[in-house]
Amino acid sequence: MRSGRFEKGMADNMRSLNASISFDKRFYREDIEASKAWARGLSGLGFLSEDELGQICSGLDQVAGEIESGSFTFSEELEDIHMNVEARLSELIGEAGAKLHTGRSRNDQVATDFRLYVKRAAEEAADAIGALMKAVVESAEACQDVVIPAYTHLQRAQPVLFSHHLLAYVEMLERDRRRFLWAAEQADSCPLGSGACVGNQFGIDREKLQEDLGFSSLTSNSLDGVSDRDFACDFLYAASMLMVHLSRFSEDIILWMTSEFGFVRLDDSVTSGSSMLPQKKNPDACELARGKTGRVVGHLIGLLTCLKGLPLSYNKDLQEDKEGVFDTHDTLLGILGVFTTMVETMQVDRERTAGSLEGGYLEALGVADYLTRKGMPFREAHGLAGSCVRRAEELGVSLPSLDLEEYRSIHEAFEEDLFEAISVEGSLADKDVPGGTAPSQVAAQLERWREALK
Ligand code: ARG
Repeated sequence: MRSGRFEKGMADNMRSLNASISFDKRFYREDIEASKAWARGLSGLGFLSEDELGQICSGLDQVAGEIESGSFTFSEELEDIHMNVEARLSELIGEAGAKLHTGRSRNDQVATDFRLYVKRAAEEAADAIGALMKAVVESAEACQDVVIPAYTHLQRAQPVLFSHHLLAYVEMLERDRRRFLWAAEQADSCPLGSGACVGNQFGIDREKLQEDLGFSSLTSNSLDGVSDRDFACDFLYAASMLMVHLSRFSEDIILWMTSEFGFVRLDDSVTSGSSMLPQKKNPDACELARGKTGRVVGHLIGLLTCLKGLPLSYNKDLQEDKEGVFDTHDTLLGILGVFTTMVETMQVDRERTAGSLEGGYLEALGVADYLTRKGMPFREAHGLAGSCVRRAEELGVSLPSLDLEEYRSIHEAFEEDLFEAISVEGSLADKDVPGGTAPSQVAAQLERWREALK
């Protein structure tokens, strides 16, 4: 790269700062795949003979083999994966190797490699989310009989099916899965043939490159082609949103795991102990998911900030686009795998969940609804139900065990059928609208998800 133009070498510290090989070797497969497609394109233009094309392709396979077996020596002097592969290829096959970079720039090369990588990573994430969704749906199916309080402000609000609560996360995860499929589509456009910035000078067949590399479209502006990293931001946004959802799910599970709630037990395989406190079984997987959310969101913000001041077209700042994406990819797959096992093995404590419905006056709205069904304006019913709660509190009893006489002393519209209406079963059954927690509605949702996830 420096031969001819430069009089002396790079300073050692500049060389280290400048090189990306320590991390971009991660997409050596994509680089080699794209180089083979490029070589086929060059041979179509007559720059390479059949024989030279054959040498390049088998030479690149050998380079891939060396990298995979660990015998390849990466050089910082050669800066990045592109130069490392090309230099080794030339070492192996001689002159034909030196023809490979004809009409190509590392700028369109890196954009191509990175898009191939992000497309695959996004598809992998979507699949891993699908597996987690399946585990959550199965867990929801296994505990359709379990009722817990739904909370607002972390204060007990109304009875809800535990399955309904779990299915709320399935909704979020489905949006995440779609966001990743969308991110994969955003990466699915081929920039190869954009050259350094203004396009290829030899009339390379870009459609053929696109097909060869399995992209579904071509980028249509060379300046944008080499400098666009929107697809990486899209991936990082999909990842950030997913992590935010997993973090919220984690928070619920952490609470459920406490002695105070005791709704669930997590399997030994996904919990950790304490070096000092013998009784501890800690929900570390959830805490790590929650903690790593900051790191993934940080990668999104980092890349957006890196891009915001860049003039067209390629700038070396863009080399900063990769590490956050790689780290995010690892983080996602790690967390999703453990989360799936955790949900698959999570046990619900039915005694504790049943106990959680006592106290807290979860029936208060039911008392008001009872009166509104008899024609009373809701505001008035709300006030009377509040009086019932106050009376129950004074007597130290729950709403279902407050005597009918007490209710009737507050309003004579109360009759014996009140107790059926405010029972847990009655309360669940009357939320019989799409999206409600009535057992029939939740069963329909479970059925829908079971079909969708087949
Ligand atoms: N290592 C570089 C990157 O990751 C490849 C492109 C370098 N291009 C250049 N003109 N210096 O972005």
